[in-house]
Amino acid sequence: MIDWIQRWENGETGWHREVTNDKLVEFIDSLKLQAGGMVFVPLCGKSYDMIYLLKQGYKVIAVEMSALAIEAFFHENAIAYTVQKAEKFSVYNADNIRIFCGDYFDLDADHLSKVEAVYDRGSLIALPADLRVKYAQHSHTIIPSGCRVLLLTLHYPQSQIDGPPFSVSEAEVGSLFEGFECQQLQCFNDIKNEPKFQKAGVSFVEKATYCLHKK
Ligand SMILES: C[S@@+](CC[C@H](N)C(=O)[O-])C[C@H]1O[C@@H](n2cnc3c(N)ncnc32)[C@H](O)[C@@H]1O
Repeated sequence: MIDWIQRWENGETGWHREVTNDKLVEFIDSLKLQAGGMVFVPLCGKSYDMIYLLKQGYKVIAVEMSALAIEAFFHENAIAYTVQKAEKFSVYNADNIRIFCGDYFDLDADHLSKVEAVYDRGSLIALPADLRVKYAQHSHTIIPSGCRVLLLTLHYPQSQIDGPPFSVSEAEVGSLFEGFECQQLQCFNDIKNEPKFQKAGVSFVEKATYCLHKK
């Protein structure tokens, strides 16, 4: 069991990037968003990619269990916010962005009824195998029909190093999201840019991008 709250408290946030993810920029058009459309960012951390989405004119709705992460996001990006309690969540609101502080598995379809697309970087792959099944099933339940999902994964020999991030193969994506139309947009070995994996003697790290479509 990974203690994410503790990780945030200890500053063990090696996944965080201060720049926009290049795959989001490259493949955002595959989400076929309307101008001003709403994008759901599950397990968002303090992802700078949310700023990119806002700058493109989209609305963002997100969920994160660590209040520290959410508050860091607003403070570091100088965004004024308010907080309200609502059932199982503390809801952080600002212009065009709402972040639910709480457990992803407590979100329901009503929370996401206006969502047109989902951006998943570092979310599915943050979870061990049993939770990935639960996560994919819950995604299918809560996101509206017609939604497209931009999903970024890693695939490497899991026996050579422990997660997170966990290895998720193309076959696993297909089986987890069998209720979605699934298209792999890109996949390449990027071991040269992964010093932690190189040091552990991992033979390859494939980075894959998918577009899933909930019919
Ligand atoms: C590996 S980080 C990725 C964060 C972000 N997607 C990014 O790319 O920077 C995973 C995040 O998921 C959050 N998290 C894990 N399980 C969660 C859950 N069940 N509900 C809400 N947040 C969760 C953790 O606190 C952590 O911030």
